[in-house]
Amino acid sequence: MSTNSVRDTEESGTQRLQKLLARAGMGSRRSCETLISDGRVTVDGRIASLGERANVDTQNIEVDGRPLPRPPTDLTIVLNKPPGYVVSTVIKHEQKSIYDLLSGTPSTLRYIGRLDIDTEGVLLFSTIGELVHRLSHPRYEVKKVYEATVRGVPSDYHLDQLRSGIMLEDGMTAPAGVEFIETGDNKAVLRLTIHEGRKRQVRRMFRAIGHSVARLRRTAFGPITLEDLSPGTSRMLLTSELSALHTITQLQTHASPKSSN
Ligand code: URA
Repeated sequence: MSTNSVRDTEESGTQRLQKLLARAGMGSRRSCETLISDGRVTVDGRIASLGERANVDTQNIEVDGRPLPRPPTDLTIVLNKPPGYVVSTVIKHEQKSIYDLLSGTPSTLRYIGRLDIDTEGVLLFSTIGELVHRLSHPRYEVKKVYEATVRGVPSDYHLDQLRSGIMLEDGMTAPAGVEFIETGDNKAVLRLTIHEGRKRQVRRMFRAIGHSVARLRRTAFGPITLEDLSPGTSRMLLTSELSALHTITQLQTHASPKSSN
């Protein structure tokens, strides 16, 4: 967020009028400035002047005598993705899309960090573009935790290879955290913690040590876990969870987030 926009929200919740108009879909900032200088905008019944600030929550802003439409409220949610759903905005015929599980949500809701069709678990979505961008960017090294059921039982030697980094077709992986959750008859369940997000990375890491993944579930994305969310259902993030996401991505909150708590 630019220093200007931070400062914009700091002074008693006011923002420059042309910015408020633009956020409410009245046009570009430049054309909104023209609306103001043409005298078509009023604040609490008084004709506004260019450069003026206003508070969209407490003041009555009108354009051509009509109240300003409210900008869409930011929304950030977590879905417990079931297997068999494609994470993409482009879906082939007869495929099931994760968006089928999110009816009634705004079209600006974007997924954060793709999962393979057969992978289950934590999948975040947000309408906050900068948050989506930062949480997907390798620079912020957001930790993801996976529970992988693999065929066969990996040796300590092989797990140490994952811990120190292993060569894949697209280069060395960063050191990973890995531990057994349980071992069984020719299979094992392991917890793997990584901060990268390369395509099919977990499956390829286990493949590289000679074990194929039979089931893969993401149990955490940064500070966000599923709690008791059942497969195929979603919930809005708590305010505390949303601020934790802002903290790890060094992003300032610019409005009170919509929240379920
Ligand atoms: N790693 C994988 O192999 N698949 C996923 O869906 C996520 C991480």
